[in-house]
Amino acid sequence: MKSMHALHGQQYSVKMNRADNQIIVIFGGRGDLAMRKIVPALYELFLQGLMPERFAVVATGRSRIDDEAYRSEVNIALAGKAGKESAGDYDRFVKAFFYLALDPSVKSDYDKLSELLYRLRSGVGIAGNTLFYFSVPPEIYDGISPSLAAQGLSNEADGWKRLIIEKPFGYDYASAVRLNRRLLEHWQESQLFRIDHYLGKETVQNILVTRFSNGIFEPLWNRNYVHHVEITSSESLGVEKRGSYYEGTGALRDMIQNHLLHLVGFIAMEPPSSIDSTSIRNELVKVFESLRPIEPADVGKMTVRGQYTGAHVKGEWLSGYREEDGVSKASMTETFAAMKFYIDNWRWGGVPFYVRTGKRLPTRVTEAVIHFKPTPHYLFSGGSSCDGCNQLIIRIQPDEGILLKFGMKIPGAGFKVRNVNMDFHYSDLAAGRIPDAYERLIHDCMKGDSTLYTRSDAVLAAWKFLDPVLQAWKEDPAIPVYGYPAGTWGPETADGLIEEPELTWRYPCKNLADDGVYCEL
Ligand code: BG6
Repeated sequence: MKSMHALHGQQYSVKMNRADNQIIVIFGGRGDLAMRKIVPALYELFLQGLMPERFAVVATGRSRIDDEAYRSEVNIALAGKAGKESAGDYDRFVKAFFYLALDPSVKSDYDKLSELLYRLRSGVGIAGNTLFYFSVPPEIYDGISPSLAAQGLSNEADGWKRLIIEKPFGYDYASAVRLNRRLLEHWQESQLFRIDHYLGKETVQNILVTRFSNGIFEPLWNRNYVHHVEITSSESLGVEKRGSYYEGTGALRDMIQNHLLHLVGFIAMEPPSSIDSTSIRNELVKVFESLRPIEPADVGKMTVRGQYTGAHVKGEWLSGYREEDGVSKASMTETFAAMKFYIDNWRWGGVPFYVRTGKRLPTRVTEAVIHFKPTPHYLFSGGSSCDGCNQLIIRIQPDEGILLKFGMKIPGAGFKVRNVNMDFHYSDLAAGRIPDAYERLIHDCMKGDSTLYTRSDAVLAAWKFLDPVLQAWKEDPAIPVYGYPAGTWGPETADGLIEEPELTWRYPCKNLADDGVYCEL
């Protein structure tokens, strides 16, 4: 019988080859995401020989520029990356880009899109395979979807048609249901690829490999041995230029509803029967459906929200959230969110999960910490405050890797114990760069593999869990939005979520192996 490890390796090698010839249409082609993530990801795939033999990219946007002007923007987006291949190849890549001025609300503009696609297909010799990337806000793509369908562009008679849909997928449960329903009027679920870039991160996928290709972790991975699970995703940046988007979103919707609940899902799921899309996504949704609903009266006890205020950090003045562009002076939007919750199933019953995220925290770190229960009897005393508490830290970024903390005898007389670190750095395995999440995800979609994309039932279950929190935060004036100075770990009240007085959040540092309030950030 093949081991899970062998199955995984086999799957990977099957996936990592050229995709079918196709056209990629990017709505929002001049936007920040397209230029920072999508175009560079396509280029990296091109360099690795993973782009189709024949392809074209049609970028659309409202502005009236021509192909050459857009190609210059592509050059700028790739500045610093070009040069790893012959000039001819780079030229070929850039020349595959076309630009179409398209106002998503103008029906006749879709005639132009159809014509262009027809022309490219016959010119470049590509069948009907088309990947539409919705890199635009949901209120816009909601309109694009029926217009594409009206042109017959959702019809797969002449080749596959797929949609990549960026988050946010809805604003709450009801809007996500509506959005889903409208998309499904014209597309099959199998054509929809809801992207959560966290699932494209190598280190997130590695959670599955760590858990299911090693015999030593799984027996301990349950309520008998795990005391609690802690997940932190902190960013040192503020909202930058996205103030007006963020005002309507906040940390809970922006990070927890999607990225962090997916981390919870990968950490908590049961072993899938195989590493395929349906099995993995089935297990993920079971976790989401087992999240214990938070009663409105408990929201104040189980969650903490905060907003950064102006402060001097490393000699530089950083503005408060309410001073950012596009943000109301009286904003109540949270830039920090922390919560405690339970997963009601046999594996996790009674184990608290703590999740926190925030902008303008001391450093950029995403990690999960599995805190194991202490030994049932303390034989030794030692110099560490955490004797007996083993921790497994799964570092998603930066300094990607895994750290195990365990007690060792301090050399010398007696039996003094100190917690020591055993660390593995992912870069030792990657031999070079770790691919960007978007590369993996776009390539998977080109190949029709939806394993790392979110299925509609998972999206809805995540919203259903968070809706009572959003509702209470909106309506209950007794739940404060705490201010926290930029450069700190958020409101101190968040420490109180962890009920046992001797326990705190881990204070992660830039380097995986360090922690503490004074480490290098
Ligand atoms: C995005 C959020 O989805 O994820 C941003 O909208 C956030 O606000 C970003 O900064 C974080 O992603 P990463 O990969 O940098 O952790």
